[in-house]
Amino acid sequence: MEQIQTVTTTTGESVVPGDEGKDKFKKCDQIAFYRRQKQLAGSVRYHALLDTLEVSETHAELQLQHTHTEARLLLQVCGIKGGAVRVKINELQPIRARYEVPDVLIGEPVTQRLRAEPGGGGAVTLSAEEGGFQVRIRGHPFLLEVESEGEVLVSVNAQGRLHFETLQTPPTQGVSSVDSDKVVLHTVDPSHDAVEHLSSKRLQGLIKGSYSICSQACVFQIRNICMETNSDFILLFQGEDSQGLWKEEFKTFLDVKANGPSSVGLDFSLHGFEHVYGIPEHADTLRLKNTRAGEPYRLYNLDVFAYEIHSRLGLYGSVPLLLGHRLGRTVGIFWLNVSETLLDIGNETETESSLQGPPQKKRREVPCTELHWMSESGVIDAFVLLGPSPLDVFRQFAALTGSQALPPLFSLGYHQSRWNYEDEADVLAVDAGFDQRDIPFDVIWLDIEHTDGKRYFTWDSKRFPDPARLQRHLQRRSRRLVVISDPHIKVDPDYPLYRDASEQGCFVRDRAGRVFEGSCWPGPCSYLDFTSPHVRDWYSSQFALNKYKGSTDALFVWNDMNEPSVFDGPEQTMPKDAVHCGGWEHRELHNLYGFYQHWATMEGLIRRSNGTERPFVLTRSFFAGSQRFGAVWTGDNVASWDYLKISIPMLLTLSITGISFCGADVGGFFQDPEPELLVRWYQAGALQPFFRGHSAMQTKRREPWLFGDENTRAIRDAIRERYRLLPYWYSLFHRAHCHAEPPIRPLWVEFPGEIQSFEMEDKYMIGNALLACPVTDAGVTEVNVLFLGSGEVSLPVCLQFWYDIRTFRRFEGGTNTSVPVTLDSVPLFQRGGTIVPRKTKAGRSTACLSSIPFDLTVALDSEGCAEGELYVDDGHSFNYRTKQEFTLRRFTFRNKTLSCSCADEKGQFQCVCSVERVVFLGLEAKPSAVIVQQGSGVREKKKPFRFEEETSMLTVENLKLKTVHSWELKIK
Ligand code: GLC
Repeated sequence: MEQIQTVTTTTGESVVPGDEGKDKFKKCDQIAFYRRQKQLAGSVRYHALLDTLEVSETHAELQLQHTHTEARLLLQVCGIKGGAVRVKINELQPIRARYEVPDVLIGEPVTQRLRAEPGGGGAVTLSAEEGGFQVRIRGHPFLLEVESEGEVLVSVNAQGRLHFETLQTPPTQGVSSVDSDKVVLHTVDPSHDAVEHLSSKRLQGLIKGSYSICSQACVFQIRNICMETNSDFILLFQGEDSQGLWKEEFKTFLDVKANGPSSVGLDFSLHGFEHVYGIPEHADTLRLKNTRAGEPYRLYNLDVFAYEIHSRLGLYGSVPLLLGHRLGRTVGIFWLNVSETLLDIGNETETESSLQGPPQKKRREVPCTELHWMSESGVIDAFVLLGPSPLDVFRQFAALTGSQALPPLFSLGYHQSRWNYEDEADVLAVDAGFDQRDIPFDVIWLDIEHTDGKRYFTWDSKRFPDPARLQRHLQRRSRRLVVISDPHIKVDPDYPLYRDASEQGCFVRDRAGRVFEGSCWPGPCSYLDFTSPHVRDWYSSQFALNKYKGSTDALFVWNDMNEPSVFDGPEQTMPKDAVHCGGWEHRELHNLYGFYQHWATMEGLIRRSNGTERPFVLTRSFFAGSQRFGAVWTGDNVASWDYLKISIPMLLTLSITGISFCGADVGGFFQDPEPELLVRWYQAGALQPFFRGHSAMQTKRREPWLFGDENTRAIRDAIRERYRLLPYWYSLFHRAHCHAEPPIRPLWVEFPGEIQSFEMEDKYMIGNALLACPVTDAGVTEVNVLFLGSGEVSLPVCLQFWYDIRTFRRFEGGTNTSVPVTLDSVPLFQRGGTIVPRKTKAGRSTACLSSIPFDLTVALDSEGCAEGELYVDDGHSFNYRTKQEFTLRRFTFRNKTLSCSCADEKGQFQCVCSVERVVFLGLEAKPSAVIVQQGSGVREKKKPFRFEEETSMLTVENLKLKTVHSWELKIK
């Protein structure tokens, strides 16, 4: 049995991994709005007042009315070009504006006019001109159905869970006879005996005698009355408020709700779907689970170190996008809300005839997934993305929230980090250590100890006396430095950044209007209010090279603790009643805090280069749209096999929800990995988008050469293989940037017609060509691989071939094979029909790659064809978009001819690297000749070649084919 190990946490406590969440964080029954919505679920009814329907160019709108209270809501429905429906619900006349999420959508979605027609049976049908979808709205009770091709895909409010807590004025009923002038509540200092100040006898008479002082507010036990006085001081009358309407307690924390209850909720039924995915970030399986019997999935950004595996507790970031997939259709539900959100998922079956559409002759049982979204505040703003393919859903989501920023090439190399590299000499030694062992790497990282007492934007002058010199040294060796910059600012009037931020009013405030203070790494801190455009602008300007002393253009940034983490806050985060710019409570926008810091940092790095250089910023906290700003990692994992295993579904989930540039700490952050685990983690990490080794302060040193020659060799090989594959990775990131295709993707994305793929999460595709099979258990000597693509289920597509890129053995789709493995590498297969570009050598950093030639691996499909592409630019600037300095090449192999052609005529980049070698996998017979022709009218040249009968592999070398020219290679 495995010994139970504890980890020493970042704050010095000793805990069992996963245990920490057990009482520091809330369970759903400790969340008042969840309890309220669950109690009411099914009993609240809204009717749609169809006669209020109005249709404009951009949307259709009508009123909904609550059956009992008669409260009215306004429903807006938009048909979005590209295949999506937006459903927005707000109060018809809120007494105050409700929070509507800014900045996540890249613009107002492009809508199309909807045509309204009576739908029969008390319904109205809205038809889109493009995309063949319809929205049917029924009046009694309110039901909205999204139909495509005559079939209802998604029903909204079929379970009657529409819930909308309308804003109220704080209840004062029952104390109206009290002369409040004489109740000098606003002068009450919480440390004083507050009752002394209550001069009204009548009010005193209402006080049952006990009161407590709780987190800066006085709580009086008064008969069933609730009263709020002013913003300085809030008098809470308990009794009626067991529902947590105006205040809520958790442990020693009191959350005072300035706007009272404001939660929203709605249900969606996905007809025919039993597989659902998405809604990061949870340490859980790729396929989301039925939550009916347990905790719902929570989306609330929290700092959960050594997080529990298979838990639905929200981790560091949130993307409220859920994907449903079934044969022939993928859909998405994007719930655009940045307050605390919970999602209940239930699987049901229903008879097909209960759905709309033409009457069915036979009643068939079909699965249905029911989703119940609940958010603490804001409005309902949901998008139904109609697919039909997985790639269509990715595009539809990117049309709303943007696509992955094209990363600078160096950031796709290997990153070496630890908390902390001690000093300049340590950094220099690690840098040299990589060269001595011939291991490529691009970036070395400095954690919080590099600063002067955790004051970001400063340096510890003993450890790093001349940081610019250090960066220049690294730069000469074509390497970079990344430093950490957290959102908490040490309270220290002698710290210029703190002073400046205070003077400019850049900090978040508490509910009493004072600058909020919480504890984090430096001790007492204040938190920058990144929700303010002014603060973001101010923060971005701190990265100017002349402002950030000791920084150079070789320095890049890492944003951590930006959930935000507040050590002495409720659930280790910011109290929900803290106040941001515009007077918005933190509860309204909690999940957007990290998104904004990431954005401001990215802007800062772009600005310091006058807009010419691509930034690199890693963030721990994120929201939908964070892909526009840089990379994300999965936070404080543990050096154990389970965490290596879970990193794969976690990264796949991030990838399919837009966050394509993601990775997990290689080796595990807490504890010391055994060498085999470390090697396997490097091999897995080398096949993931963001590739960084990182470890906690208390861990032993773990540079790749510290574990003996055999392990060093295996790690070196994994990193070198990554570097050789970078042309492919970079081309995939270009596709992610332009077409929203995630570089790594679950198998069901590539094989949407094969049910067997729907739950696979230990293996995945890199692009459409490579099948990655990381090893995530100890002592593994063989890996079982099920090759998809038998050709039967996906007609007219023919039988799929797969090639082992190490042995070049060919496998057929539909077969199951055990592949032997050693510690040297993990299995990787190339799919027939694809062409993968690589470099012929790895180089010592990505900068060296610009002079190393390419090689192409052409893996033939069962028809003897293949295709692929290669994207190249300067790897660091925005010239690819401002000056069209890129080249996009298409490789096609058909009729025994490999041709290289231009895939985008606009491209102007003169790539100097030639194609040196081409390897063909799966040729039927040894050719009689290989002939090359570069450019039309140029004489054909015969080329020597090697053919291996056993594997049917043809290798043609010394080709010197210009990448930017058109050429053909013919096999006779
Ligand atoms: C957090 C981060 C971790 C970092 C540490 C110190 O725990 O998740 O990566 O090393 O803080 O900054």
